[in-house]
Amino acid sequence: MSAPATRAIINADVPGPVINRHVYGHFAEHLGRCIYGGFYVGEDSEIPNERGIRRDVVEALRALKIPNLRWPGGCFADEYHWMDGIGPKDERPAMVNTHWGNVEENNHFGTHEFMDLCEMLGAEPYINGNVGSGTVREMADWVEYLTRDGDSPMVRLRKQNGREEPWTVPFWGIGNEAWGCGGNMSAQHYAEEARRYATYCRDHGDNRLYRIAAGANSDDYVWTETLMKALNELGGCGRDPRGIYQAISVHYYSVVGPWHDKGSALEFTEDDYYATMAKAAFADDLLRRHSTVMDNYDPDKKVGLVLDEWGTWWNVEPGTNPGFLYQQNTMRDALVASTHFDIFHRHADRLVMANIAQTVNVLQAMILTDPDSGALVLTPTYHVFEMNSGHQDAASLRVDVPGGLPEREVGETSLATVSLSASRKDGTVLVSLSNLDAGEPAVVDLDLRGCQVGSVRARALTAPELAGHNTPQAPDTVAPRAHEGVTRSGDGLRVELPAHSFVTLSVDVD
Ligand code: AHR
Repeated sequence: MSAPATRAIINADVPGPVINRHVYGHFAEHLGRCIYGGFYVGEDSEIPNERGIRRDVVEALRALKIPNLRWPGGCFADEYHWMDGIGPKDERPAMVNTHWGNVEENNHFGTHEFMDLCEMLGAEPYINGNVGSGTVREMADWVEYLTRDGDSPMVRLRKQNGREEPWTVPFWGIGNEAWGCGGNMSAQHYAEEARRYATYCRDHGDNRLYRIAAGANSDDYVWTETLMKALNELGGCGRDPRGIYQAISVHYYSVVGPWHDKGSALEFTEDDYYATMAKAAFADDLLRRHSTVMDNYDPDKKVGLVLDEWGTWWNVEPGTNPGFLYQQNTMRDALVASTHFDIFHRHADRLVMANIAQTVNVLQAMILTDPDSGALVLTPTYHVFEMNSGHQDAASLRVDVPGGLPEREVGETSLATVSLSASRKDGTVLVSLSNLDAGEPAVVDLDLRGCQVGSVRARALTAPELAGHNTPQAPDTVAPRAHEGVTRSGDGLRVELPAHSFVTLSVDVD
């Protein structure tokens, strides 16, 4: 029996808020094999590289149009001392990465290498400063080193290290997870530290920093409220000439089960799968509630909300270092990503940035590299980012579903098993649709109003199994293919969605 159709109405002539391209942002921490072996192999590696940076990784990521890259952490950011990562590599002091595997960090990938990587990717840098174990002076000097022109102590040091021109650094994080690995601070204490540090992160020359205060752990709305109050006390929200923070972050991972046993990335039951999808769907409530708190202080939405860590977090792959957070990536992860993006598009009025954790070899990665052969694999999540890249900087379009979405009970919540969102840019409406039903197809009748529908290109990402994934031996088990299941029905489009699939429609419109 075929599934009853879900009817969705999209008014293509009523543009909503623009989807900030930065919600498609990324995150690269000195953790496991994200930087070393992932992005950076060193100049002497047999793996083709430019100044130590892997060419194949850069080429694959350029297709995603990565808007920004957050670095150097994460928890690592609050024990990173940037001056150890500049100058001749063989003279850089080493340190112990106490958060991630207690391994030695040789600091060969530092500020210059990161800025080089951003230039190669075409991504804007988002640098996360050290509040937990650093000083205000250290952070202020880093900003000066990166962004000041002319002559000054830090400018001279930068030039001595081979870089004449200042870089442009738009995004600056004031610490990370200050409630935990970033210093175990109370909200009130951190709010005062954030104001102090942000004050000395100066705008040098034409560089304008968008300072992001370290935000809440998931649903800690009091944390957000404390940071908003702290801003308000200084005379108002939004960009402030005195240089306070312009945005507040939050971290939310779709974790099922206790932290000591989060489940396997590859071996899971259908119940585990639905529980994960319910966790992903919670991101909608989470963003709404943080936004509501912010609205109380900032109804004009001048202060941005930044979800700078999100994604799945499973037990590490058997036999790998528990501190390296290396996990496989399946069709389940792809659907966690696709549904997050629908949510991000709906929150385009407040959400200015989001960064999946993390880009290569760590947590919900785009790319996995083999530690022995160096072979590179694109994950199902990579393909969701690529298929959705047309939403970047497009006007969000509201989607109305008069009869409601199909639902199923998951524990004590109800999970909508179809998720969709749409946007319009440059004569194209891009519609993204996910069928979360593990075993049954779904049908969506799209009523695209306020435009002339021209040609339609449809692509689908799915796999025979929910746990379908890619390996160096079978790199295209989960890869987008042209989708035949779209028919015109009157003025609308009927879209058939295979079980556990992600489908995009690019519709030419007048
Ligand atoms: O992404 C891995 C870690 O998760 C980050 O370092 C930290 O900020 C978070 O707890």
